[in-house]
Amino acid sequence: MPLNFAHRGSLTEAPENTLPAFQKAIEHGAKAIELDVQLTKDNHLVVSHDHKFTRFNKNVTGLIKDYTWDEVRQIDVGSAFSEEFAGTNLPTLEDVLDICPHHLFLNIEIKNIPVIYDGIEQRLLDTLSHYNRTENVIVSSFDHVALKNVQNINPDIDLGMLFYYRMLNPWDYAANSGLAIRSLHPNQVYVNQTFVQESKRHGYEVYPFTVNDVNRYAELVDFGVDGVFSNEPGVFGS
Ligand code: G3P
Ligand code: CA
Repeated sequence: MPLNFAHRGSLTEAPENTLPAFQKAIEHGAKAIELDVQLTKDNHLVVSHDHKFTRFNKNVTGLIKDYTWDEVRQIDVGSAFSEEFAGTNLPTLEDVLDICPHHLFLNIEIKNIPVIYDGIEQRLLDTLSHYNRTENVIVSSFDHVALKNVQNINPDIDLGMLFYYRMLNPWDYAANSGLAIRSLHPNQVYVNQTFVQESKRHGYEVYPFTVNDVNRYAELVDFGVDGVFSNEPGVFGS
């Protein structure tokens, strides 16, 4: 049975990466959710894909890293989605962990691009340890140095290597990286049978992103992927 991740929660039904989005994903029966983390000025892990607020609130300029958590929690990121969510704020990772049952699998993506958040890896692992949440979780990033930092802090955490662009031999790159990678997370547009076969041959699970079309999902399952990241409740709830 594939392990499918609700990408930033159920982002078609509620503002992405917010508690209502994760709650809706859970209601759809998602077995796994994906979320992104950034770091505030005072070192709080905030769940957000973007490193700034403007996509969700045009009145707030500047970067998340320039705001304290006390300021971030007062910023409305819900009205731009719909009035129903007016007043919704970006949550902390702790807020999300509080509503996630332990059996819900998590993919936490460290968003170190384009901002480099010094210390985000330590902060993340401290939080996961505090919540006794070092199992049933994959930490992923496009920033493979961040993955190395995670491994250095806790070699037992499962790591997912994200790729946005095509690579010649990603499985060789992963194998030679010195990282104990559990899974490859490629952009779904270039995943084919060979990609999946080679990844498996090298011992990696494969979770492509972001797969919203049910026919493409069926094709990827046919290739043998272990799951996908999806915005579509019909996929991530399956
Ligand atoms: O982790 C899969 C996917 O979320 C990576 O891309 O840009 O949606 O964070 P992005
Ligand atoms: Ca992500």
